Amino acid sequence: MSGAAVIIPAAGSGTRFGGDLPKQFRELAGKPIVQHVIERFLLDERVAQVIVAVAEPLLAVVRQESSDRVHFVAGGASRLQSVSRGLEAVRDECDIVAVHDAVRPFFATSTFHALLDAAVAAGASFPGLPVTDTIHIVDGSRILSTPERRMLYAAQTPQCFRTAILRDVLARAAQNDDDATDEAGLAARYGYPVALVAGDPMNFKITRPEDLIVAERVFERWSTE
Ligand code: CTP
Ligand code: MG
Repeated sequence: MSGAAVIIPAAGSGTRFGGDLPKQFRELAGKPIVQHVIERFLLDERVAQVIVAVAEPLLAVVRQESSDRVHFVAGGASRLQSVSRGLEAVRDECDIVAVHDAVRPFFATSTFHALLDAAVAAGASFPGLPVTDTIHIVDGSRILSTPERRMLYAAQTPQCFRTAILRDVLARAAQNDDDATDEAGLAARYGYPVALVAGDPMNFKITRPEDLIVAERVFERWSTE
């Protein structure tokens, strides 16, 4: 099997996190969060190519770090657009593509490999975590309905796809002006089977400033284990 391509959408502005510098460039244990993520994928022998989508103004800053296996492309106005820009740079020999948030530095390699295998077998896969809170559908300030918790899973990344499937799904999403927040959900919406692989609570997304405080502690634990 030829190696996989990894697309890292890193072109968001981090509104919920706040601050001048987008969160993916904030430091975790002395280096930018996105750099931790890039380096972890580069250490993986199943990864042939890493593509990072960053906002146009930041492209000039990071471009000189490009190499054989990593390169940077200009991101778009939405996450899906950033992923689409990345997909254009995927080499033909990569049959499988993983999409991973720039702000999830703690993905497990064993889970990633299980996801790659599941995408080969099923076409698409995602890491899902059973939700622990009860989730209500709310309209303004009133509960409309309460879905059964045992059917609810929080979607994490890396989400993996046969390259042809991701191309089809993103092309259709662009045509329909679909603004989904993840690609696994889109693939399912367009009729592809998407395999669920057990996610991991440690693979949380750094969304708000308190998540970075937790991430620093987790990093300390990881590096002393
Ligand atoms: N992302 C992207 N391009 C965009 C929007 C988001 O590449 N136009 C990326 C983010 O950089 C991040 C990932 O998608 O790596 C997950 O998005 P999220 O956590 O929502 O990050 P932001 O969109 O930056 O944050 P917020 O929603 O709080 O503004
Ligand atoms: Mg966002």
